[in-house]
Amino acid sequence: MRVLITGAAGFIGSHIAETLETAGHDISGVDLRNGSDIRDAGVLDRSLEGVDVVVHQAAKVGIGVDVADMPGYVAVNAYGTAVLLAAMARCRVARLVLASSMVVYGEGAYDCAAHGRVRPGPRVVTDLSTGFFEPRCPYCAAGLTPAEIGEDAPTDPRSAYATTKLAQEHLAANWARETGGTAVALRYHNVYGPRMPRDTPYSGVAAIFRSALEAGRSPTVFEDGGQRRDFVHVRDVARANAVALDAGVPGALTVYNIASGEPHTVGELAAALATECGGPEPVITGEYRLGDVRHIVASPDRAAGELGFRARIGFADGMRELATAPFG
Ligand code: UD1
Repeated sequence: MRVLITGAAGFIGSHIAETLETAGHDISGVDLRNGSDIRDAGVLDRSLEGVDVVVHQAAKVGIGVDVADMPGYVAVNAYGTAVLLAAMARCRVARLVLASSMVVYGEGAYDCAAHGRVRPGPRVVTDLSTGFFEPRCPYCAAGLTPAEIGEDAPTDPRSAYATTKLAQEHLAANWARETGGTAVALRYHNVYGPRMPRDTPYSGVAAIFRSALEAGRSPTVFEDGGQRRDFVHVRDVARANAVALDAGVPGALTVYNIASGEPHTVGELAAALATECGGPEPVITGEYRLGDVRHIVASPDRAAGELGFRARIGFADGMRELATAPFG
């Protein structure tokens, strides 16, 4: 297939390019780093000629610093995707694979002993400041048991980044319905691996810990370190894109969690990485960031059942590699 990758020079996009090339696809890319912007209709019209499918990774990522980042997220993620979709319609490219994110869910899914499956709102300062980090049942304020989140869970984007990732999904569905195209959105969980961006306000926790360890500093673990995530290796994410291309999923928009299926706490991440890097030991600070969610753990079942995608790189192997992997 002829595949155009947006964000082809980035952390995830560059791995997708390698994986698709190895699989025999005919790859081209656009990337701001190489001077080609997805918001430039002329660039897109030239780039989309003869293309069968677009794999859209170009995005402003992370949670940003503050609301001053909002226009940037909307400009790149929402507006950029709209320009891309309009160009795909003009150039009659009918297939899209979209990089979405688990951030569209907000807080994960939980079970309350009295009220069953619930979706708690943001945690409150009175809990966090006294070291109570678990969300409470929205009906009876009782403690909750975390559960796996499936793709049909209601979305609850809690940052400009999350809002624009969800907007991308909706725009893709709008485009698909109007043009008869098909879109697949892959909701990546916490992606890590070689060529991760270094520690910036836009980096995820694995990159921050690795950067600290490289500088000889302890990883600083917020809350009590018990917050759970699904850390998925970037080569597995790249393979998920390849599988989504080949699967030819019908329908306007289908969404899949892309996760390892092997959740870990942030404390475990810090400990594993510190061991692999040869120290120093992590420090658990009890600090918290108001916008953070407590646990967000995916059900990988839909991707396994419908795409046949299962992650292959386990946590221990992934951490061993990450300890010495180059930054992007
Ligand atoms: C991250 C990304 C998000 C992406 C998602 C899925 C960022 C900032 N967030 O969300 O954009 O869509 O993964 O790939 O890029 N923590 C520490 N110490 C630190 C930094 C963070 O303990 O120095 C903790 C946080 O409090 C949080 C957890 O690690 O509990 C994860 O943080 P982070 O990776 O920043 O954000 P996610 O919510 O997982």
